Amino acid sequence: MSIQMLDGRKLFLIQTPHATYALAVDGRQRLRHVYWGAKISRPEDLPDLAGQQEAASANRWQAPQEYRTGEGFDFAEPALEAVFSDRVAGAQLAYRGSRIGQENGLDVLSIVLEDTHYPLEVTLQYRHYPGTDLISRNSVIRNTGREPIILKAMKSASLAMPRGYAWRLTHMAGNWAKEFQKEQLMLTHGKLVIENRRGTSSGPQAVPFFALDEQGQATAANGEVWYGVLHWSGDFSIALETDPFDQTAITAGISAAGSSWRLKPQEQLTTPLLTLGYSAAGFDAMSEALYDLQFDFLAPRAKAHQVRPIIYNSWYPYQFAIDEGKLLSLAEKAAAIGAELFVIDDGWFRGRTDDRAGLGDWVACPDRFPRGLEAIADRCHELGMQFGLWVEPEMVNPDSDLYRAHPDWVIHQPTREKTLQRNQLVLNFARDDVRDFAIAMLDRLIKDYRLDYLKWDMNRYMTEPGWPDATAGEEGSLKIRYLFNLYQVWDHLNRSHPQVLFENCAHGGARADFGMVPYADRINRSDNADPVDVMKLHEGFTTLFLPKTAGGAGNISPSPNTINGRVTPLSFRAHMGMMGSMSVGINLLQSPPEELSELRTWLETFKRLRPDLQDAYVYLLASAYRHPYAIFQYVNRARTATTLFAFGHGLNFQQQLPLIRLRGLQPDAVYTCEDGRRLSGQALMNRGVPIRLRGDYASHVETWRRHD
Ligand code: GLA
Repeated sequence: MSIQMLDGRKLFLIQTPHATYALAVDGRQRLRHVYWGAKISRPEDLPDLAGQQEAASANRWQAPQEYRTGEGFDFAEPALEAVFSDRVAGAQLAYRGSRIGQENGLDVLSIVLEDTHYPLEVTLQYRHYPGTDLISRNSVIRNTGREPIILKAMKSASLAMPRGYAWRLTHMAGNWAKEFQKEQLMLTHGKLVIENRRGTSSGPQAVPFFALDEQGQATAANGEVWYGVLHWSGDFSIALETDPFDQTAITAGISAAGSSWRLKPQEQLTTPLLTLGYSAAGFDAMSEALYDLQFDFLAPRAKAHQVRPIIYNSWYPYQFAIDEGKLLSLAEKAAAIGAELFVIDDGWFRGRTDDRAGLGDWVACPDRFPRGLEAIADRCHELGMQFGLWVEPEMVNPDSDLYRAHPDWVIHQPTREKTLQRNQLVLNFARDDVRDFAIAMLDRLIKDYRLDYLKWDMNRYMTEPGWPDATAGEEGSLKIRYLFNLYQVWDHLNRSHPQVLFENCAHGGARADFGMVPYADRINRSDNADPVDVMKLHEGFTTLFLPKTAGGAGNISPSPNTINGRVTPLSFRAHMGMMGSMSVGINLLQSPPEELSELRTWLETFKRLRPDLQDAYVYLLASAYRHPYAIFQYVNRARTATTLFAFGHGLNFQQQLPLIRLRGLQPDAVYTCEDGRRLSGQALMNRGVPIRLRGDYASHVETWRRHD
């Protein structure tokens, strides 16, 4: 058991392999944060708070509140803001009890706090993922009385960093087609908020992730890093605040901007998980731990360790201009180059010849698909490929039969004009009838079209966030209930169709977050598959997510690229495609025979390398942020095989790369390269290997396997 309570002192300790997290009850029965950082094994080494009687944050020597409510002199961003029926605002939570137990193989600590005057109970939950330095925190907020309580803030957790140090923040920001861009800055006094208010997505303008290291001293392979990811796919905020006493605190959870929750008598609200980690060995070890979390605990269980099939997708070649004839011809060619799953993207349903109409009417367009999609599904299966389809279940075009039948189903404010984005409106998933419509529609498509794969897209933000039919007082919960129901639909899909592969797409990577990880086998990394841009996009993506889930409509993209027009050699694109969940987006009906045969060769190469790339860690040996090249090293989890991917662009003549030192191998094992070289793990890691890149669009791949 990694969790213990020292009874006499009411000190709680969570011991992970390399870290300790500690909290304690003070003399006023308030729960205080004691410690989070590198391991302290002896509980006696931690301070005793039993004698502490002052209100929190009265001076610099005090331990901060563990779950901040603004009590006393605590002026920091609160995790909880409650307003009671007599209009008194602000909770004062006292310790009532605790429980240490197990749940789904995880050690769980629950600490029950209760307001000193009002019928409000908050349970703080801590889960430790065995074998890792990861702890998930969240809160369960419960109204135990007879009057409603208004929650104006309902965050998952607040945290305190070791006091008095200067912290560098690493986070990711971006935009459509420019997701996961790494940003680093020193925190100053004051508050920095990483926040999304767009309603339907978690990103990409902000990503629910933070990492802190002291003075910017941590590197990929060395140094202490404290980090967190929030498991939530809508409005979120992560506030990082440094007070006049140099105490940096973090409060993270559902964004309070534009959301509130009316907690009915006896009702409880469970907030999303915030997973926290500590690494003593730099940013790579952070990513490794987050991969372990996905492989061993979060990712859809049945498929977590299966290889991802090679996809052919119709989007880049034809966009909306698809019909049965073209797709059948494409399917033949796709099978011939070695694709394993054929996907019909947008444009297959009634009225959908561009983005102005059809969303909501999920039946095959009778003009362009007179025999339905079954003919194509059957042909793909005959050709030995799986078959998949694109949908956008949360959206509707005003020009659709669904909207004409249910204009009240969209999110809107009756007195305001409905702002269109991509000519579409957002269906109100907070409504149970809309949720049920989506479930029935998706079940029907999967069954009727014998789908092996479903790409769930989401292509706009939420505006005019109104819900005129809501029960009085519940309007404020729209964006939160939307997400709860969305997760229910995804949960249903996974349970009812365990063999189907699901892709989480949101106009690229706008919903790439840990809230979605339990439901999706593939995540659209970006609509931008230009291989030079991917040098940075993939670095950001693989900081958090498994490389084999890095999806998209064609990560062997067309040249010139559809997004930025860049012309690149097929070898460069193919090597880039191998680093993720491989998909081809080239128009094979226009490919000359040499291109088809080259593609076939690349897919064969990938199939040979794939078993070692799929359940692998990724080390960033050279970053495109610092060099005109990027080097990614994949190591399978058994550490018996490693593959180097090197990409260069814009290299000057005489620009020599250093010997590239590998990481994460067994020092004493001997590894053999595919070209016959043999080196020990020690030599590979300490001295390194030469990598030659020259000029523009240069790429190189080499695999080393353990020699037994
Ligand atoms: C979004 C997706 C793309 C594609 C189009 C279809 O942009 O990210 O992959 O599916 O929608 O409209």
